[in-house]
Amino acid sequence: MYRSHNCGELRIEHVGQTVRLAGWVARRRDFGALTFVDLRDRYGITQLSFNEEYNKVLLDSARSLGREFVVQAIGKVTERSNKNSKIPTGDIEIVVEELQILNSSLVPPFSIEEETDGGDDIRMQYRYLDLRRDPVRQNLMLRHQVARQVRNYLDNLQFIEVETPVLIKSTPEGARDFIVPSRMNPGQFYALPQSPQTFKQLLMVSGFDRYYQIVKCFRDEDLRADRQPEFTQIDCEMSFVEQEDILNLFEGMTRHLFKEVKGVDIGTLPRMTFDDAMSKYGNDKPDIRFGMEFNYLNDLVKGKGFNVFETAECVLAICADNCANYTRKQLDELTEWVKRPQIGAKGLVYVMCNADGSYKSSVDKFYNQDDLKAWAERCGAKAGDLLLLLSGDLHQVRKQMSELRLEMGQRLGYRDKNVFKALWVIDFPLVEFDADNNRWHAMHHPFTSPKPEDLDKLETDPGAIRANAYDLVINGVEIGGGSIRIHDKNVQSRMFKLLGFSEDEAKYQFGFLMNAFEFGAPPHGGIAFGFDRLCSMFGGADSIRDFIAFPKNNQGRDMMIDAPSNIENKQLDELKIALKA
Ligand code: AMO
Repeated sequence: MYRSHNCGELRIEHVGQTVRLAGWVARRRDFGALTFVDLRDRYGITQLSFNEEYNKVLLDSARSLGREFVVQAIGKVTERSNKNSKIPTGDIEIVVEELQILNSSLVPPFSIEEETDGGDDIRMQYRYLDLRRDPVRQNLMLRHQVARQVRNYLDNLQFIEVETPVLIKSTPEGARDFIVPSRMNPGQFYALPQSPQTFKQLLMVSGFDRYYQIVKCFRDEDLRADRQPEFTQIDCEMSFVEQEDILNLFEGMTRHLFKEVKGVDIGTLPRMTFDDAMSKYGNDKPDIRFGMEFNYLNDLVKGKGFNVFETAECVLAICADNCANYTRKQLDELTEWVKRPQIGAKGLVYVMCNADGSYKSSVDKFYNQDDLKAWAERCGAKAGDLLLLLSGDLHQVRKQMSELRLEMGQRLGYRDKNVFKALWVIDFPLVEFDADNNRWHAMHHPFTSPKPEDLDKLETDPGAIRANAYDLVINGVEIGGGSIRIHDKNVQSRMFKLLGFSEDEAKYQFGFLMNAFEFGAPPHGGIAFGFDRLCSMFGGADSIRDFIAFPKNNQGRDMMIDAPSNIENKQLDELKIALKA
């Protein structure tokens, strides 16, 4: 037996017992005739103690230990004279009687401590060492916990987990596919699933009623903190349901997860239409931990000779609480912030609502005190507040103001990671127009059903059609999305047509689904949660990377195994692939 206990479990009540521990040398401290070694494993740290008086040979052996050596120690649990209240095992130490070095280690390239000196790249290159660090390990533990609770919840509701294939044909989630050449079918390629969307719909045709899968998805898209090329979904589908059934059941799951994993009751989730979200927050994933909603000032600002506002399609204002004391420098800095290319505003207009009831603005030349007062009233501003105005094209200015709102929320401390505000965004448009390519795109995916009352607009006014589609948004992050599907073959054909698929193209790409729909497809719908995003939300982190055991970097590279990489000519020949020079 290598070990009788792990390194996190011994306490004062074990004093006197002889125990065996095994683990990694986290730290060694030598003092005159004494040496202490912190032994680490997945469960914690236990102090090993070596004393010259007690055993000189053992002390020498302990002093030969380097960081990250793997050792087994047998010894007696003893009460420490110098207790460490910072760790759970801090009341005891092991007075070692036998020590065996199970393996040596090179000096690790960064310190394996809570706060490490290793930069991102080196930690990713040696990810297996990074995973020995407590915070990273905790993240994976949390991930495991969330997965377990998901399974608990869904198992109790008769969902069954079914695996779907990974070597498939393109699925239309809107990103690029990763493709895999087929040796046995030269010149032909599989695509890795962007999601199991079509398969879960086929499972509904098969009668599986309630399906889920915690599943890898692959999307070749530009990476960000909340996007990985290879990520995990909690993918779900149900038959004989309407939107309301899905929202209720998965609101229940979300509540269950928050309760079990975080001990937080998130209450009933509010619902907001896509139109409202865009008009109040300029964003289809609004962060509702704070207000600062948009105010529309068009009718109040026009006709006063301020050309910027005269020519603007939309003039928007937000009210920042208690910021009227912003200095010139702060306002200039904020102006520069909105003018950065990432935001792209031409300028920022401000109004200070002074404590004495007067107003001071950057456009005093054009607007008098009564004008500014009307703006302040529209925005519900009180003395001491600061109005921030942006203007321009409706679509653009909403986007810019959304960024400014989030930035101000951050600066004012309204985006507390320990506060969770979730909501459903519903009634998404079915399609959006892509002016560059002069065609309609499915806003969610081509299998999403229009609201029945909008069905007749499919050929006449597609832009006005609302979909039975919904997103779960938490703290401004899109955590999940889904829809009620089209289960009628004719409606599906009309949808493909609207999206610009010829009959042949639709048949080629989705013939299998259309055929299946000929054999009694039940009404069905579902949702997929971004599992990595959910975990990083629970962990209070912005990046999903730290919640994935072996993530890719921003260039989509696995730094540890050095992938992607070249392949040998022989392999290319087998695949009948010729690389262009
Ligand atoms: P959707 O494309 O909205 O829907 O994806 C569902 C959820 O998956 C997460 N997600 C990602 N997480 C990390 N990295 C990525 N690159 C990434 N892309 C998406 C998001 C998102 O909300 N088949 C449909 C679901 C359905 O209709 O049932 C789908 O995949 O949190």
